[in-house]
Amino acid sequence: MSTSSNVAPNDLSAFWMPFTANRQFKKAPRMFVAARDMHYTTSDGRQVLDGTAGLWCVNAGHARPKIVEAIARQAGELDYAPAFQMGHPKAFELANRLVDLAPDGLDHVLFTNSGSESVETALKVALAYHRVKGEGSRTRLIGRERAYHGVNFGGISVGGIVTNRKMFGTLLTGVDHMPHTHDLAKNAFSRGEPEHGADLADELERIVTLHDASTIAAVIVEPVAGSTGVLIPPPGYLKRLREITRKHGILLIFDEVITGYGRLGTPFGADYFGVTPDIMVTAKGLTNGVIPMGAVMVSAEIHDTFMQGPEHLIEFFHGYTYSGNPVASAAALATLDTYKEEGLLTRGAALAKAWEDALHSLKGLPHVIDIRNIGLVGAIELEPIAGSPTKRAFSAFLKAYEQGLLVRTTGDIIALSPPLIISESQIGEIVSTLSGILKTLE
Ligand SMILES: Cc1ncc(COP(=O)(O)O)c(C=O)c1O
Repeated sequence: MSTSSNVAPNDLSAFWMPFTANRQFKKAPRMFVAARDMHYTTSDGRQVLDGTAGLWCVNAGHARPKIVEAIARQAGELDYAPAFQMGHPKAFELANRLVDLAPDGLDHVLFTNSGSESVETALKVALAYHRVKGEGSRTRLIGRERAYHGVNFGGISVGGIVTNRKMFGTLLTGVDHMPHTHDLAKNAFSRGEPEHGADLADELERIVTLHDASTIAAVIVEPVAGSTGVLIPPPGYLKRLREITRKHGILLIFDEVITGYGRLGTPFGADYFGVTPDIMVTAKGLTNGVIPMGAVMVSAEIHDTFMQGPEHLIEFFHGYTYSGNPVASAAALATLDTYKEEGLLTRGAALAKAWEDALHSLKGLPHVIDIRNIGLVGAIELEPIAGSPTKRAFSAFLKAYEQGLLVRTTGDIIALSPPLIISESQIGEIVSTLSGILKTLE
């Protein structure tokens, strides 16, 4: 194949790449020039098995015809319509489809362009809701240690990532954090939900006692924390958060940017854990990663609270130029069709046992201090090299790429989240490639 896209660019310096070791990359670039189903094609013509669904987003696999066609058709028919004070049919159709798919009670949708924007939108809805309700003293937001909620100021404030705290100043004030639930000493090599740690939910009661419920607007958690290394909640933990938030009139926000759209073998993490939040934050798999889009689903109670006052006034002072963009809406509708036709939102459940057994077969290999899994998500945690944290996992990532497998690393954790179309033999391929690498890692 000879297209202009597979000619390697000759100057890499202008693009300051996101979340990338730029100098390392530019010395030995890793370029994808095409993708189909489970594989990428590199600029040197190799096939790479996608063990991460891109960045946890390509849930139906790459270049799916229905989605590609829908985007092309929509761009030619209605490329853009103003998002404010004007509408177009596909955004409404998509919102209805999402409400049907979401757990009962989440009846209204706000559109964004990314997970980060969905998080900011959710936090702002929560603050404004209490204000409109006459409880404007509820301004405090509660997040969790080791949480990742994107890169904007609200998200990094409720998130629990040390580098953000070091690099970006004071962040939002009035934020507190619960402890994370990751406990290697008690839960290493758990299959599915780890046994110990449900009582950590009671830390929320301690925080409520400290600040008083009347000052707290919302609690935000990822049902399973993905980006900081696949941290799976103990049984009952999320139910307990739901009970405590409900008791105190605090909104519960689930950040389902990773757990949404089939990752756990259910449409959403809320379905997997049997807990319905007041607000659900989604993005990534909504459009199969093809076009940037996020969706925030909120309860009728929240939405209806805003619908008061003179009808010519804007009820919620927020929105993006591209909220519900026609091409993104078309991509999302075609993605939902593809998920439905192929049963992908529940396929992870059927594959979960094979996935679990395959991953846990790596137990006992050098440096492996934990293996954990849930749905079609997995993590292999490595002992860090003394004095050089993250280096061991990064070299596993580089070797995997050389050997035709894309994995993702965070700290010294290898995270895996393949497209939901993966076959059992491709699961075997992931594990045998990793097994070979782990045996030769320094
Ligand atoms: C839980 C969670 N929230 C938010 C985000 C941010 O999404 P985006 O990169 O689309 O802004 C991510 C991205 O990985 C995520 O995992």
